[in-house]
Amino acid sequence: MDDLYRDVIVEHFKNPGYKGILDPHDISFEDENPLCGDHLRIDLRVDENNKVKEAAFSGHGCAISQASADLLLESIIGKSLDEVKKYTKNDVLELIGIELGPVRLKCALLSLKILKAGVYGLGEASDDLVEEE
Ligand code: FES
Repeated sequence: MDDLYRDVIVEHFKNPGYKGILDPHDISFEDENPLCGDHLRIDLRVDENNKVKEAAFSGHGCAISQASADLLLESIIGKSLDEVKKYTKNDVLELIGIELGPVRLKCALLSLKILKAGVYGLGEASDDLVEEE
């Protein structure tokens, strides 16, 4: 694993900038990784132009899931909800910057799945949400 990127993950896991709960919020969604039961919730506040103004995640999970949630939320601040809908697996992998096996990939993509289910206003999150459109 590349040391620089590993350091980024450890740093975001230990000192997340976007951990917390937004109450009230405009969008909120929560779900879990079926492989491990780790649970994540994402809250967003948007401005009058439907751009993400504030974002926060809460819940528990491994370093990869927590760090990827933090990196993902950091990257969507100021973006429109339409832009967020276009995020895919590759965007998250680019943010994380390391190769991941299939199990770790589920950890890394949990936040994107939850974020997109919330932005689309879906009743449940599906793995299709993280694939290329
Ligand atoms: Fe549960 Fe990674 S082990 S989200």
